[in-house]
Amino acid sequence: MKKRSPLSLGGLLCSALLGLGYTLTPATAPPETGQVADSSLDRPLPSGPLGEVIRLGRDLVAETATHPLTAPFSGNDLNCTSCHLQNGTHETAASFLGVATAYPAWSPREQRVLTLEDRILNCFMRSCNGTRPPLGSQVSVAIAAYITWLSSDQAIQMNATGPHGPRAIPSLTLGESVADAASGATLYAEKCADCHKIDGQGTADGPPVWGPRSFNTGAGLSKVTGLAKWLKVAMPPDQADLSEQEALDIAAFVNSHDRPKFELFEHLPPADQMGQYNGIQP
Ligand code: HEC
Ligand code: HEC
Repeated sequence: MKKRSPLSLGGLLCSALLGLGYTLTPATAPPETGQVADSSLDRPLPSGPLGEVIRLGRDLVAETATHPLTAPFSGNDLNCTSCHLQNGTHETAASFLGVATAYPAWSPREQRVLTLEDRILNCFMRSCNGTRPPLGSQVSVAIAAYITWLSSDQAIQMNATGPHGPRAIPSLTLGESVADAASGATLYAEKCADCHKIDGQGTADGPPVWGPRSFNTGAGLSKVTGLAKWLKVAMPPDQADLSEQEALDIAAFVNSHDRPKFELFEHLPPADQMGQYNGIQP
């Protein structure tokens, strides 16, 4: 278990101070190119404890690896917002906007109907390479409250085909067969290494993209097409302008490196700390 970092304490203090007002703004200033543009960001938070829980959820998605409530369930250096950019309010990069309207949703992977909480908890096991927090825990409820708040006033439209909200990242028209990892290596050195380092282990300006502190082989981004479509809408952060071919080439190169192997049973907590695991049993 990691130590409570001064950063998290600062974050908590900051949240406490923000508690005096009722609006929630993104933690970081939006980059210049068309990013945050949802009126829900300016809407007032609900008053009282509900507003505070939503605010806690916002902190947890941004400080997943270090916050004392989520660090015990995290197994790498990533926060939810490492991929769900701008606290999940980026319009296209794995946006949380509108996501709550799609649940309960059918999940072909889990062969179950998942609630939003299930979907959130499963991300801890795969993208964060950690352990599934208990269903109904403070972590689970706070993150679900934050994501639901980002869907305020939108019509419910439960998804019968997949656990995806209305802004799910579109598939590319090109397939994995055309991906060229050698060309991807050159492009990575040019366009990515400044922030993610040539050895992929990250810098202060960008988290690790492979190796023991990155997402595991169970994460959506561990698939070449899954990473490529996300890169196309997300990276580089201030100017996501890769072509489909470039995104596939870079994704093939990034995913040619080792990362933690995903075995479901290693990521489920003991039965008495889990609540119901709504998926295929390992
Ligand atoms: C390594 C990148 C990564 C990290 C870290 C990550 N996710 Fe995700 N997550 C994704 C991708 C990619 C998708 C699929 C998005 C899509 O298809 O539009 C996704 C999907 C989701 C969805 C479903 C979205 C929908 O449209 O229905 C939820 C909810 C979610 N993640 C929550 C979380 C939470 C909470 C955390 C932190 C505990 C987290 N994720 C960490 C990459 C990540
Ligand atoms: C200007 C710095 C910068 C550049 C250039 C950049 N990234 Fe990122 N990248 C980031 C940051 C910062 C994040 C995390 C987002 C956040 O925390 O807001 C990130 C997140 C990621 C993630 C998801 C989290 C993880 O570490 O796995 C991947 C994958 C990624 N970048 C790949 C790339 C690739 C490939 C390129 C080149 C096409 C690239 N990035 C270019 C800064 C950068």
